[in-house]
Amino acid sequence: MTRPLSDPPGKGPAHASSAAVAANEETASPLVANLRPAARAAPDSGIVEVMNYGRDRPGMIPLWAGEGDLATPDFICAAATKSLAEGETFYTWQRGIPPLREALSRYHERLYQRRLPSERFFVTGSGMQAIQIAIAAVAGAGDEVLIPSPAWPNCAAATGLAGASAVEVPMRFSDKAGWQLDLDRLFAAAGPATKAIFLNSPSNPTGWTATQDELKAVLAFARKRGLWIIADEVYNRFYFAGERAPSFYDVAGEDDPIIFVNTFSKNWAMTGWRIGWIGAPAVLGRVIENLIQYSTSGVAVFMQRAATVAVEEGEAFLQLQVERAREGRRIICEALAASPRVRFAWPDGAFYLFFSIRGAEETAKLGLRLVDEANIGVAPGTAFGTGGEAFMRLCFARKAEDLAEAGRRLTRWLAD
Ligand SMILES: Cc1ncc(COP(=O)(O)O)c(C=O)c1O
Repeated sequence: MTRPLSDPPGKGPAHASSAAVAANEETASPLVANLRPAARAAPDSGIVEVMNYGRDRPGMIPLWAGEGDLATPDFICAAATKSLAEGETFYTWQRGIPPLREALSRYHERLYQRRLPSERFFVTGSGMQAIQIAIAAVAGAGDEVLIPSPAWPNCAAATGLAGASAVEVPMRFSDKAGWQLDLDRLFAAAGPATKAIFLNSPSNPTGWTATQDELKAVLAFARKRGLWIIADEVYNRFYFAGERAPSFYDVAGEDDPIIFVNTFSKNWAMTGWRIGWIGAPAVLGRVIENLIQYSTSGVAVFMQRAATVAVEEGEAFLQLQVERAREGRRIICEALAASPRVRFAWPDGAFYLFFSIRGAEETAKLGLRLVDEANIGVAPGTAFGTGGEAFMRLCFARKAEDLAEAGRRLTRWLAD
């Protein structure tokens, strides 16, 4: 039984119709009309729509969100519990507790083989908040931020909320070369209002990973034009051709105009904790501290204790996660490669497969259909901006059996 792409009015599932009612109530409300336009204009997440639609289905394999299926390991949780038991429940350092900032400094030194002092690191309430602070620091009303797309939608939305405009720079896709960043196109998009380039590598959703030469070229352009780079390297450990992905840390000096955003979410299975970090020239410290003060006023100490243990003792767990993702990638890519209807490039990094289906290029509602007809949850490419519309995103950071079953369900659905 197949369901039409969009439900006829009044016949839709409970969630969809109540969402429509809520939207109508909202439009009619003078309270909403009186809100700040940039707040009203913040877009709904196309990923959340599918999640809300399918989350309670029995037997559903949920591959829609950007997280793995492992819970935070006990040794990390234990550090949080211990901290709470010891009464660490008070206000704390805005920039982050010194032991965590020192641990981050050592972690980066191990990874990049260079000295990066703790004064460069600032603890934030998630990677998302790191992005929000980075944008608030560099762009406001009338400014533009360039974002290669398809991209994780939150960066553009955070730019809009800051009163600035996100300018999408479409990447190219071909079956042979996969996803590619056209540097000339990126540089041509920079105008007088451009303040920053947001570069996410390895990329969510495409898995595209910048080469060191590409990073060098972007940095040279930013230096020349006085632009900021916001370097979103949250998937830098999920890289399938080496220990880590190429990074701006490989090519930049300490005082280059780069704000790195990162998170504990992915490496150490801490998505629900909401803790991340910024790496930036130490001279920005006072400004970043103030932006933290006037948003969250700092991250809870017990979470920072857990994060310290994660960076200091979590390497083996992180390796395990990367290996699972590598195996998940193999399973799902091999399964889908068997279908002549599917197009994709094997992702170099991150833990997503971004694929398109011949004959089903209208993906806005395809995620809902796949919930109903294949009992798997994938996110529609429309959620990731220009260039993503014909694709679907699937997260392969899960156990092998789930991915093998998801591959079977998808190929069966494709053959029908
Ligand atoms: C590209 C990218 N950047 C940043 C984040 C932020 O992660 P979090 O807010 O969970 O720390 C995510 C999460 O999915 C992401 O995909």
